[in-house]
Amino acid sequence: MTTTNVALLGFGNVGRAFVRLLAEKRASLAGRDGLDLRLKAVLCARGGILAGEGEDVPDLAGADREGLAGHPRFERGLNPGAVLRRLKPGVFAECISSPPETGEPALGHLREALSRGWHAVTADKGPLAADAGGLREAARAAGTGFRFSAATGAALPAADIALFSLAGAEIESIQGILNGTTNFVLTRMGRGESYEEALAAARRLGIAEPDPTRDVEGLDAAVKLLILSNLVFGESRQIGDVRVRGLSAATADEARRAAAAGRKIKLLASAVRRGGRTELSVEPAVLDAGHPLFGVDGAEKGVTFFTDTMGAVTVSGGKSDPRGAAAAMLKDIILLLGSRRP
Ligand code: HSE
Repeated sequence: MTTTNVALLGFGNVGRAFVRLLAEKRASLAGRDGLDLRLKAVLCARGGILAGEGEDVPDLAGADREGLAGHPRFERGLNPGAVLRRLKPGVFAECISSPPETGEPALGHLREALSRGWHAVTADKGPLAADAGGLREAARAAGTGFRFSAATGAALPAADIALFSLAGAEIESIQGILNGTTNFVLTRMGRGESYEEALAAARRLGIAEPDPTRDVEGLDAAVKLLILSNLVFGESRQIGDVRVRGLSAATADEARRAAAAGRKIKLLASAVRRGGRTELSVEPAVLDAGHPLFGVDGAEKGVTFFTDTMGAVTVSGGKSDPRGAAAAMLKDIILLLGSRRP
């Protein structure tokens, strides 16, 4: 049995789901994977709880952010640096939300964790958009591991397919439907709903973010594409390098016309190699029935890798709610700790 400390930064929807999942999966992690994951710290922006010698953090399964901050063991001002110094290195799991332009504050915390000999997993797109290459290099230099499959579509195993299942093939281009909200809205508009009605339904169902601007303007899809493309093609492109055109009320008509002609409009994220460089775009595109992503409807996501030797390989589905993202973080931890080889 491998016993490993886990320090969690982030107690929003994903962080709370991760805490619940660790408790729920304790027996199968021990039995199937030989892992005893000890949750030793839970942190948010205001502070956190650090477990003492020989104990785990107290049961937080029913708590929200206020519940964490109001817990008798909560230390105001406790920060990741202090936790990383005080605990024996294990896995630093990070799921706050940082902007893609700077990646901060998560980027600094991840760098510190790796340099102190911790493995790291993240569901946070910001630090990856800003400097995934640097973080992977920092992990290599420190002899630790760094995985982030939750950041490119939660449970959709896009990064895993690209890294492991297509080993030896050249990926020539990537096309993806990487945002559930826009795909849901476009699907509904193709069936005759207005943009406003469809978006209101996406918000009601919790598919869209509370502020859906980044969803509908294509920025969420652009960040996921950037992370995937930099990983696959070994580049360090920035978010400003992605040409982005999101949805607008004007596309409702196009969606209906496309549907009448047996086609569909999708917000297509594309990374295409041209002349040794990758062209990145997110924009509405008309797909015909032969396209591998044609059947990816509603809040589903999917990605197709076009390769030189393996043809077009598509993966779709995978839950993209907080539990799906937390499950992808847990998968990354299992893979990092070596109890399974991809
Ligand atoms: N709201 C997003 C979506 C998920 O619609 O897919 C956040 O990455």
